[in-house]
Amino acid sequence: MAPNYPDEVDVFSVPHSRMKQLVHKYLDMVTSTNFSDVGRMACVLEKLCHTFNVFKAHEQIENRFIMRRLKEKLLSLDITDAAVCNCHSDNRLTEMLSLVLEGYRWTQRSKSERIKYGMRLRHALEDFTKDFIPHMKEEEEVFQPMLVEYFTYDELKQLKAKVIQQHQEK
Ligand code: FEO
Repeated sequence: MAPNYPDEVDVFSVPHSRMKQLVHKYLDMVTSTNFSDVGRMACVLEKLCHTFNVFKAHEQIENRFIMRRLKEKLLSLDITDAAVCNCHSDNRLTEMLSLVLEGYRWTQRSKSERIKYGMRLRHALEDFTKDFIPHMKEEEEVFQPMLVEYFTYDELKQLKAKVIQQHQEK
């Protein structure tokens, strides 16, 4: 369980709560949607596109405002931490977005092909989720304590305000 930090300096929990809501929504949606219905399928694809763009924006905000600053701080103290450097190094979000966009082509295909695509999409989303939830947990349980260790309370307050503002603008 993640240690509790004062809200003012907890940079991950608020955005992650929104990301977790989106995860639950898409898992429910993709499980309950009948891909033989073209209209429903298109609606799911549109919502998934939006969701994965939100995830990408979240990752970019973290890279720009949290991870970069943490790396710089560690570097200035002569500390190398591979976990910080590799935190967002794979391309899962891009792959998922491509798979979702590919779905629009399948809306023109036969019912059985659409159902097959729906199953592929569902499995890919489940696989993605298996990594995404622990990834957020790692940020809360590993990187948040590092931030608390290496930044002042006021620096973190400002960082949190910036992170929230950036998420609101996306
Ligand atoms: Fe907060 Fe890197 O997801």
